Amino acid sequence: MIIAVDGPAASGKGTIARALARHYGLPHLDTGLLYRAVALNVLREELDPEREADAVASCDFPDSLLADPQLRTDEAGRVASVVSAHPLVRAALLQRQRRFAQQPGGAVLDGRDIGTVIAPDADVKLFVKATPTIRAQRRHAELRKAGQNVSLDRVLADIRARDDRDARRSEAPLRQAADAALLDTSFLSIEAAVQRAISLVETRAARPREQAGE
Ligand code: CDP
Ligand code: CDP
Repeated sequence: MIIAVDGPAASGKGTIARALARHYGLPHLDTGLLYRAVALNVLREELDPEREADAVASCDFPDSLLADPQLRTDEAGRVASVVSAHPLVRAALLQRQRRFAQQPGGAVLDGRDIGTVIAPDADVKLFVKATPTIRAQRRHAELRKAGQNVSLDRVLADIRARDDRDARRSEAPLRQAADAALLDTSFLSIEAAVQRAISLVETRAARPREQAGE
């Protein structure tokens, strides 16, 4: 079973994808980490993330980089959304994600374009959303916990800028696949959101394929 989980920043898709992977005993890939790794390479080499050639030169990284705590910074997320708009960067990371999705037994992947580009034939697609204000509050709480002192207004502005960039780019923009189930986590606890996700997976995985596009 391939489960695709997409949505904007801090919608809760990573939490849900991890919980689904645990529940079904499937491997999980947070595809945002790949773009964050490219961003970290660009930052460390002092390259220009707006230049496609600079970003492409940063796409060849070892798996060990995916465990680097610096990937989680706000800066890495912001630069990730700049480098991820380059078509050649997306192409360079495509096979790695497809191989992960197509491994025997299945997988859970979360990101922006899993249901639309990476695994358009996924058995189950979820599109997770929450209001920008609630997502900013969640991200702000995380940053404070990690000792990063930024204002809520700044986090909200960053979230809006990132939403805008991710949805407007021409290559694999952030959008809900036609056959994805929508899960709004704005007013759900983590436990309630995960329960809802599991019940969506159960009902959608049980339906015949021709009904999946309803
Ligand atoms: O965790 P958060 O939602 O803040 O971000 P992320 O999932 O780590 O992704 C960082 C950036 O990578 C996003 O803003 C997107 O621009 C990009 N990304 C993408 O383009 N496609 C994906 N499948 C995953 C991430
Ligand atoms: O992966 P994505 O950026 O979409 O979000 P996440 O990392 O799963 O969740 C962002 C933050 O919101 C985390 O601190 C979660 O614990 C929190 N969260 C929440 O408060 N309520 C939910 N229903 C889901 C996530």
